[in-house]
Formats: sequence, C-alpha cells, structure tokens
Amino acid sequence: MKKLRIGIIGVGGIAQGRHIPAFLQLRDVCEITALCDVNVDRAKETAEKHQIPHVFENYQDLFSEVDAVCICTPNKFHAEISIAAFEAGVHVLCEKPMALSAEECEAMIAASKKADKVLAIAYHYRFMKESQAAKKAMQEVGTPLVVRIQALRRRKVPGWGVFTNKDLQGGGSLIDYGCHLLDLALWLMGNPKQTMVSGTTYNTLSKMPNQVNQWGEFDHETFDVDDHVTAYAQFENGASMLFETSWAANIKDDKEHLSISGVDGGLSVFPFELYTTKNGMLLNSQAAWIPSEENPGLPQAKNFIQACLGLEELVVKPEEALQVSQIIDRIYESSESFREGISQ
Ligand SMILES: NC(=O)c1ccc[n+]([C@@H]2O[C@H](COP(=O)([O-])OP(=O)(O)OC[C@H]3O[C@@H](n4cnc5c(N)ncnc54)[C@H](O)[C@@H]3O)[C@@H](O)[C@H]2O)c1
Repeated sequence: MKKLRIGIIGVGGIAQGRHIPAFLQLRDVCEITALCDVNVDRAKETAEKHQIPHVFENYQDLFSEVDAVCICTPNKFHAEISIAAFEAGVHVLCEKPMALSAEECEAMIAASKKADKVLAIAYHYRFMKESQAAKKAMQEVGTPLVVRIQALRRRKVPGWGVFTNKDLQGGGSLIDYGCHLLDLALWLMGNPKQTMVSGTTYNTLSKMPNQVNQWGEFDHETFDVDDHVTAYAQFENGASMLFETSWAANIKDDKEHLSISGVDGGLSVFPFELYTTKNGMLLNSQAAWIPSEENPGLPQAKNFIQACLGLEELVVKPEEALQVSQIIDRIYESSESFREGISQ
C-alpha cells in the first residue's frame, strides 16, 4: 500500500515533542516527506536529524510534496494554512485551538468540505486512556446533569514561544489550556448545543511586575492575554457546566479535574473513577488497568492517517472543535461586556 506523505508546518515545540515522533513511529503507513518553518534553519536541522527530504520556508511550496499536513504554527495561522492546504487538495491535522474564532473555524470546515479532504483537530486529551475509559463509562452515568472542570496551574505562565501574545494566539489560559478540558467534557456529554455561556477573564497577576513564575520569565508589560478564567454554561439537554482554568492561580497545587454527575451515576476522569448505586449501596470503581496507549499522540496520529485513507471515522470531528471555539468566543465576549459594565 502507498504510504501517506506527511508535511509538518511549524517545527517548534509541539511538532518536535509530539507529532514528528508519532508519525516516525508509524513508518509502515506514513512517511514525513517535508518540513516547513519560517525559521528555516530550525526546519533544516530537524530534517537532517530525521532524514526528511524536503524543507521549505513558505508553506505554499510544501503542498506538492505531501498528501496531508500537520499544522503546528501559532494559532493565528491555523485557518489561513488549513484553507490553503485544502485548496491544494491536501488533508489537514491542525493543532488546537482550531483557530482564533468560530468564524475562522467555519471557513476551515467549508474549505475541507469543498475539497473533500479530512480536517482533524489535535485535541489529544480525547486519546488519553482515562478519557477513552470515561467515554465508554458514560452509559453508566446516563444523561449528564452537572459538569465540573478545573484546569488550574499554580504560577505557570509559559515563558517561552508566543503564548502571551494576543495577536498571534487569540488568548491565554482559556484558548491554550482550558480548551482541552472543555473539548473533552463536551465530547463526554455527547456535544449538546450550548444555550447560554457567561464568563469572566482575568490577567491581574500577570500584568503586575516581579511575578514568581515556575515556567520561565515573561514580560508583564506586553502580556495581553488572560491568565485565569471562570465560566458557566447551560445546554439544551438541561446540563450545566462550571468551568475554571488558569495559568497563574494562587492555589496550593495544580489541579486537573473533570467530573460529571449524571442521572444514573457519576465519574471523574483524572484519575478515572466511576460512582454508581447498586444493591442499595453507593459504589466507587477505580480502573486497575486501561487498555490504551500511554502516549496520546500515537493514537491521535493513527486515527488521522486512517481517516485520510478512508478506513476510520475521525475521533475529533471539526464541528466539535468548532463548538469549543464558539464557547470560547462567548466567554471572551461576555467578559468584555462585564468589564464594560463595571467601568461605566
Ligand atoms: N496539543 C497540545 O497540548 C499543545 C501543546 C503545545 C502547543 N500546542 C499548539 O501548537 C501550536 C504551536 O505551538 P508550539 O508550542 O509548538 O509553538 P512554538 O513557538 O514552539 O513553534 C511554532 C513554530 O511555528 C513556526 N511558524 C510561525 N509562523 C509560521 C508560518 N506562518 N509558517 C511556518 N512556520 C511558522 C515558528 O517559527 C515556530 O518554529 C499552537 O497552536 C499551540 O496552541 C498544542
């Protein structure tokens, strides 16, 4: 069988740490044939290390050498490059968040449909073994009622890359970190439509000088994204969601919590636990072993390749990633109205 030819656009942290190793491991079904980065020396160095034949500075030049691309640039370029890839007849696996806004996501979906090419978004939390277990266990939870998300880091603003630059990333802790847990919760719930979203964003701490930060240094003067966000959402199936995410919380320890209380039972994803009633008792179940890959990057890459070959359905459908962006847009908009209200 002919191998799927893959190009990587943006050869920074996530490409080197997750996608390139995963595609290299899947050598029997794919081959990385080209790399592209505006920092062409970085792309050349990486190509030499892994014997990848083609290197480009401009992504438009790469499309003729590939069947699919993995887009790992800052968020600002996700939509533009995806649409260009579809116009060139190439499948796309795009890093999260899908794009800067729901409007951009819709344009990406329209372009993928027009080209009849796959559009996958790298919400890799879905491929974690705890998430896979939780998805199966949702049948014991029944209709979801209340969903709780806490994606909290204690003083860990990313001090590298462009994460604190609104123009390039579109936001901070919410669009970068909270989006993963938001996507995972929506998927577990069966992606019911949101009917109301309200949120508040903060960047008070990161705008103050001399912050104690565990993940390197950042410039408090140019910091223009959120570092802490709270939100509340309601859904058409009657469920509600309590959401909090932060890069810079003043808390004892980092916390990554997603739990769902449903009509029949409840679950917590990290670590995976199931709460049910049986024989007149309240029962807690913990997984002793979950059959899945340790590294979620690998099943994510496999699913993308299989979808491009027409052999599997995508796990992360673009319409679902669009919903995450719609909720993110609403949180940012509602926070802006809240701030305008209190400044009057
Ligand atoms: N799934 C995850 O958990 C996860 C983790 C980290 C980052 N990400 C996402 O991955 C993307 C990249 O993040 P990163 O941490 O690798 O950033 P990075 O800064 O380490 O790498 C980005 C690379 O893109 C290159 N680049 C910028 N503009 C380009 C363009 N127009 N064409 C080609 N190359 C371009 C840069 O030179 C850089 O090498 C972001 O969207 C981020 O949200 C996802």
